[in-house]
Amino acid sequence: MSHDKALAGIRIVIDAGPTYEDIDPVRFLGNRSSGKMGFAIAEAAAQAGAEVTLVAGPVALATPAGVARRVDVRSALQMRDAVLRAVEDADIFIATAAVADWRVAEYSSRKIKKGAAGAPVLELVENPDILAEVAARDPRPFVVGFAAETDHVAEHAREKLDRKKLDMLAANRVDEHTGIGADDNALELIWPGGSETLPRASKSELAEALVARIARHFRARGGRA
Ligand code: CTP
Repeated sequence: MSHDKALAGIRIVIDAGPTYEDIDPVRFLGNRSSGKMGFAIAEAAAQAGAEVTLVAGPVALATPAGVARRVDVRSALQMRDAVLRAVEDADIFIATAAVADWRVAEYSSRKIKKGAAGAPVLELVENPDILAEVAARDPRPFVVGFAAETDHVAEHAREKLDRKKLDMLAANRVDEHTGIGADDNALELIWPGGSETLPRASKSELAEALVARIARHFRARGGRA
């Protein structure tokens, strides 16, 4: 391994993709996250010399070159377990996953049938916030979150950074052209005391720029907290 790389010897955990919350053996609640941004960041981090663990929700993407470990999960609870285990000895955690906010209160092990009872009512319960849980640990890795916002991007992002006690937050504006599922994107990077716009570029170019910023801020802070 080359030691002139920005992240040589640094252990990074990245979660990516959606989570699927099963309702019964054939149905689930999901979302449209493709996982592309998280996978691009995993590739860029590995290229920068990091030892990358990629915790992936259900996505149709090949493991990027150089990624040391991939853990495939389906639900938010499974993702949480995999992430908490992986961050135990990690230096940096990057939460790109579109974790489902809710899961069904009670999974039905039998397929729910149409019938005289009419349409079922699904009771939902909130999923744990994986990012906030990692940020609340002591000691903890350098923690980077993502946010998708449609309006007041900077204000909402700053509020999220403070509330979840993050070291950095990458906010993207979602509209019909960019964000979820799109191939290019722009990011507003926010950290306590500053911000920077990473202009619109392909996800792989943005991932490289983001990884370079994360490496710089991580070093400036002096490593793991
Ligand atoms: N996240 C998480 N676990 C959850 C929900 C979100 O780890 N259960 C992480 C995401 O991976 C992302 C960040 O938190 O890094 C997004 O924060 P969130 O507050 O969920 O963002 P939005 O969905 O944009 O929230 P809001 O509905 O408040 O705008």
